[in-house]
Amino acid sequence: MGTVSRMDTIRWGVMAPGRIARSFAADLALVPDAELVATGSRSLDRATTFADEFGGAAHGSYEELVADEAVDVVYVASPHPLHAEHTRMALAAGKHVLCEKPMTLDGASTAALFDEAAERGLFLMEAMWMATHPTIRTLRALLTDGEHGTARQVHASIGFVAGPDPTSRLVDPALGGGALLDMGVYPLTFAQLLLGEPDQLTAVANLSDRAIDLDISIAGRYPGGATAALTATLTSHASVTATVSTEIGTFELPRPFYSPDRIRWTSYWTEGGAGEWIEPDEPVVGQGYGNEAMEVHRCLRSGALTSELVPPSQTIALMRQMDDLRAQVGVSYADRVGT
Ligand SMILES: NC(=O)c1ccc[n+]([C@@H]2O[C@H](COP(=O)([O-])OP(=O)(O)OC[C@H]3O[C@@H](n4cnc5c(N)ncnc54)[C@H](OP(=O)(O)O)[C@@H]3O)[C@@H](O)[C@H]2O)c1
Repeated sequence: MGTVSRMDTIRWGVMAPGRIARSFAADLALVPDAELVATGSRSLDRATTFADEFGGAAHGSYEELVADEAVDVVYVASPHPLHAEHTRMALAAGKHVLCEKPMTLDGASTAALFDEAAERGLFLMEAMWMATHPTIRTLRALLTDGEHGTARQVHASIGFVAGPDPTSRLVDPALGGGALLDMGVYPLTFAQLLLGEPDQLTAVANLSDRAIDLDISIAGRYPGGATAALTATLTSHASVTATVSTEIGTFELPRPFYSPDRIRWTSYWTEGGAGEWIEPDEPVVGQGYGNEAMEVHRCLRSGALTSELVPPSQTIALMRQMDDLRAQVGVSYADRVGT
């Protein structure tokens, strides 16, 4: 276990077949050298329903899934307070892991997971698919080519109305509810991908009566004096767009800014200001989860234990930024951390 040869089909196991696992599995089917060979759920019925649709074996427990010898890499898609336990379970069984975002509830437990994967010689990556998305990669390249100026200011907004169900994982503290961990991680990561690690982040938030952040606004200062205004909400329908301003023009990222089909560049000098639409350099596979799976494949085939597009340093830095922001606004998962 643990080694994947250059020619093999890479065999995936899905742990926790909920909403995002469905989107991921649909895109995985479009990746030519990927095979979904097993699904593990707390319920055999749910695993069977998922396996009937996407293929592979069905297991009625996560333990059985990670013990399945046909599985090379486990995709962990449970609610975030369970990511650490479930990732550790897969690593202990000798499986490589792609773990949904946010990786855990705090920076320390995220760092510990990467240490454990490295000690075991296994691959681990946070499923921060925005960073592997071709359009976002193209934007990053455009901001380093010198022709579009230097990013000076980033605006990004994300969110939707979570709905009234108090047991929804989005608002339930026991399931890691809150706008920052669930959604704010996207604008924060977006700003870091373009501007570097922040020098300062300041937040204000609106908390629920169960003390999770329903709405959060973050102001950031980045190297060289670049700044960002980043928002996430569970009480309003946000535009889910972003802009990146340089000293010579603006990039606009249409909805959803973390996985747009294309971006618009408007130079300050362009007559009429209509701008120019720019397509990604590489094809988007499915919604973009396919490109994330392809990055995992690329790493496994090269023997890399971590991804350069979603490196542990970035994931850990983001988790630590969110620790700090939650402390600023008074949201704590202290009783759940490490579980
Ligand atoms: N990358 C993305 O675009 C994206 C999008 C949405 C969500 N996410 C992330 O993916 C994770 C899952 O989100 P989701 O929206 O897919 O959630 P979801 O629909 O609620 O699915 C989560 C699954 O986890 C399993 N589970 C295990 N223990 C559980 C517990 N105590 N309570 C509830 N479910 C439990 C359940 O499957 P079984 O009981 O069948 O095992 C459930 O179906 C979250 O961390 C979220 O932040 C990522």
